[in-house]
Amino acid sequence: MTGGLQKLNTSFDEINDSALGNPLWEGLGIQRTAEPCVMVIFGATGDLTHRKLIPALYNLALDRLLPNGFSVVGFARRPLTDQQFTQDVHDTVAQYSRRKPLDPTVWNSLAKGMHYVQGDFGDEKSYEKLATLLGDLDRTQGTSGNRVFYLATPPTAYEDIIHNLGQAGLARQHWAGGGWTRIVIEKPFGTDLATARDLNTKLSAVFNEEQTYRIDHYLGKETVQNILVFRFANTIFEPIWNRQYVDHVQITVAENLGVEERAGYYEGAGTIRDMVQNHMMQQLALTAMEPPVAFDANAIRDEKVKVLRAIKPLDARDVAERVVRGQYGPGSINGEHVVGYRQEQKVNPNSTTDTFVAMKLFVENWRWQDVPFYLRTGKRLPVRATEIAIRFKPVPLQLFRQMGVAALEQNILALQIQPDEGITLKFESKVPSARMRLRSVNMDFRYSAAFGVQPADAYERLILDVLIGDSTLFTRRDEVEAAWTLVTSILDGWKVLPPPVFPNYEAGSWGPIAAQQMMARDDRVWRRP
Ligand code: BG6
Repeated sequence: MTGGLQKLNTSFDEINDSALGNPLWEGLGIQRTAEPCVMVIFGATGDLTHRKLIPALYNLALDRLLPNGFSVVGFARRPLTDQQFTQDVHDTVAQYSRRKPLDPTVWNSLAKGMHYVQGDFGDEKSYEKLATLLGDLDRTQGTSGNRVFYLATPPTAYEDIIHNLGQAGLARQHWAGGGWTRIVIEKPFGTDLATARDLNTKLSAVFNEEQTYRIDHYLGKETVQNILVFRFANTIFEPIWNRQYVDHVQITVAENLGVEERAGYYEGAGTIRDMVQNHMMQQLALTAMEPPVAFDANAIRDEKVKVLRAIKPLDARDVAERVVRGQYGPGSINGEHVVGYRQEQKVNPNSTTDTFVAMKLFVENWRWQDVPFYLRTGKRLPVRATEIAIRFKPVPLQLFRQMGVAALEQNILALQIQPDEGITLKFESKVPSARMRLRSVNMDFRYSAAFGVQPADAYERLILDVLIGDSTLFTRRDEVEAAWTLVTSILDGWKVLPPPVFPNYEAGSWGPIAAQQMMARDDRVWRRP
């Protein structure tokens, strides 16, 4: 990783006398430290701030990974004082932090650096107020102009915020005193290729690419990062990681939750924009990419973008044959009755929004030519499970047939991303007996058993990377546009194809029958993670 790797002790105000025991980097012998800085959160009263951002900051503070003088400035429309804002976020951190109960010393230390600016995203004057506060913090907290602007707002506010930060002179990459400015943008980044390009253009008029951190929280998951370690820190897997040995790849992101209270956003997005364009594409890219020339931000992203470019956009016929969309109807999950998507709060009763997507893609390059990558994601499936499964080709000669063994199972390597994080290799074994009987068995690695630590939340890792200035786990402009090129081709196909009759799968099932049929046509089946 670039930048920020220093043999230094981290400290965070008076709670950090020693920098012992940083669990994230233990064993590496190095600590990653951020310079004193301010994080400005636009949308500070929203759900993301409460559920993810502030709990992540608190957990970073607990691990002594925040710098001295670290300050948070909440920016939102609601009239709140600094104290009210701090109290507001305190209550949700107490609820959502992965480690409880809150440690009052750590919390107070973090809370001491919390401020609030009431403002309208489109109002220039609010940014003047913000600039004044930031100037004060530079003087009193020693933050020297180091700023992260975190856009945790609905995407409709992005343009105003970016523009006004530029107008207020707050977007400069470097300040005279050596300070830096970075911007973090949440998904959805655009709604199709044209809007993503347009947003990139507006963004690049104010911030340059090195300042820009497009966040995809899947990249902050330990197990997703471990795909790179598994592939490129071991000798034995890479030689078989190609079309000679791999029959096909299945990537599943199954959720048992429904749309919850997010219909306002989800109705216009659907699963294709909510999950496929970002999380699924990232997992596919990490699985299929070539070894990078170095473990740094640009080398890794160069290889990921090549994978995305090697997937040809689909035409309407491809979409009809290789993409299945679904929407859940009523059903039951874990024995409990749940309503259909169209009956969820604030959902149009005739909605045609997709809550399930399955597709078959090809990465057209030397390594992967003709190897299908099957992707599947949906809400209200029977379980919550994310998995990347590599199924290997059958053995060339069925040696054991003459001994009465009918068929051999193919080897499967499954990377379980969540919730039961691990890696399983399925292979054939002889059943102990005088006869020749074979059975598939598993070789199992579990993170929890091997390391005995609870993985950090993805946001902790990603926020720390932003503070340090490491963009390896963030999506570059060309990458986001390459992913949109593919997804937009599917959206275009859907525009001209007759829509399926929704709902077409029962909540608690594995999605529409058409998804099983797509696999059956290839003589394959979906796994049940
Ligand atoms: C988000 C999507 O990006 O990812 C949600 O907007 C989805 O719809 C969530 O539920 C899944 O994330 P995780 O980390 O729970 O797998």
